[in-house]
Amino acid sequence: MPPVTLSHPHDPNDAPLVEVRGLCFAREGRVIFDGVDLTIPRGRVTAIMGPSGTGKTTLLRLIGGQLVPDAGQITVDGQQVNRLKRRELFELRKRMGMLFQAGALLTDLSVFENVAFPLREHTHLSESMIRDLVLLKLEAVGLRGARDLMPSQLSGGMARRVALARAIALDPMMVMYDEPFTGQDPISLGVLARLVRHLNDSMGLTSLVVSHDVHETCAIADYVYLIAEGRVVGAGTPTEMSASPSPWIRQFMQAQSEGPVPFHYPALDLITDLMQEGGA
Ligand SMILES: Nc1ncnc2c1ncn2[C@@H]1O[C@H](COP(=O)(O)OP(=O)(O)OP(=O)(O)O)[C@@H](O)[C@H]1O
Ligand SMILES: [Mg+2]
Repeated sequence: MPPVTLSHPHDPNDAPLVEVRGLCFAREGRVIFDGVDLTIPRGRVTAIMGPSGTGKTTLLRLIGGQLVPDAGQITVDGQQVNRLKRRELFELRKRMGMLFQAGALLTDLSVFENVAFPLREHTHLSESMIRDLVLLKLEAVGLRGARDLMPSQLSGGMARRVALARAIALDPMMVMYDEPFTGQDPISLGVLARLVRHLNDSMGLTSLVVSHDVHETCAIADYVYLIAEGRVVGAGTPTEMSASPSPWIRQFMQAQSEGPVPFHYPALDLITDLMQEGGA
């Protein structure tokens, strides 16, 4: 008698939420990505780290469909992002919460109205439903009591948390965080990092955290990708990354200024550049 198989190889819940395959992307003749492969599993916190200017924000915009790859595929929840029609992309984006690098709140609107904004834009819910949802999201980030404050009355860390509440207002399947910890003091940074982890687990989200804060990011990430010079130069769990002998990974993880990661934006060599300037 043949053995009975109980596994379901096509169970959609097993498929990664985001898959990036062979991604190539250039801007104004400059190669940003040159064959990047990434897998973002469902339900996990995945970190994308890399030096400034390597294309982390660009990668999030490619995943969100705001930019189109030159080559390769980006699949989100089974849909190939750059093949979608406008309407389909709009629907997909509603399910992808985004915390932007600047995390800007609308300065003329209260905390409450900032969080209500996506609900008013994208749903036809009644005012009392909106109120309940906003209060629940603010409760989740610990700021229900701050609902009547204006953005100018918030600390930087509080503003980030309001932006986070806004990013999850529509109950997205995933949240992409672009540098959520930048400019925070160590306490606020720890609070934000734990909040990212807590929201991921309690709301059943999938989180993608872009950061160059190695310590805090590794404390909450299940898996880390390190990108530099257009490629993935390292990937693994935080523990594997910390133990890696790779010079790229070591330089980044230990924040060393000397190593394979270049400090300079690509340029002519200095003497040639100075001579050209003088001769012009
Ligand atoms: N609108 C644009 N037009 C042309 N080039 C751009 C544009 N936006 C970004 N770039 C270039 O793309 C590269 C990657 O930028 P990106 O903002 O994705 O980097 P990053 O890894 O997010 O950096 P940081 O850590 O400083 O936020 C940079 O070299 C940048 O100069
Ligand atoms: Mg960036």
